Amino acid sequence: MSERVLVGPVEALPEGGQTQVSVEGVSVVVVQFEGQFYALRNNCTHKDYPLLGGEVSAGRITCEKHGARFELATGKPRALPAVKPVRVYRTEVEAGQLYVCPL
Ligand code: FES
Repeated sequence: MSERVLVGPVEALPEGGQTQVSVEGVSVVVVQFEGQFYALRNNCTHKDYPLLGGEVSAGRITCEKHGARFELATGKPRALPAVKPVRVYRTEVEAGQLYVCPL
């Protein structure tokens, strides 16, 4: 079974914050949006550009390269030019620490 990966203390990722961790050798972007933590593969499915640093609004993250948008909760594409979903990961909070778990 895959191990969960420690992101850090929850206070280190405030509302609207983003960070990046490596899960099984894959870069994953972790976001807090409206009090929830989300984790998605840090690669746009259009041309692989990193999603880290993209604008987050309305539950979606925007790829800065060409403007594709993905749902934080599901990874589903909601704006072209991306048509494939981004892989999502589960997040867990335990004893004040945030973790990302492969699904
Ligand atoms: S690489 Fe993300 S929209 Fe093109």
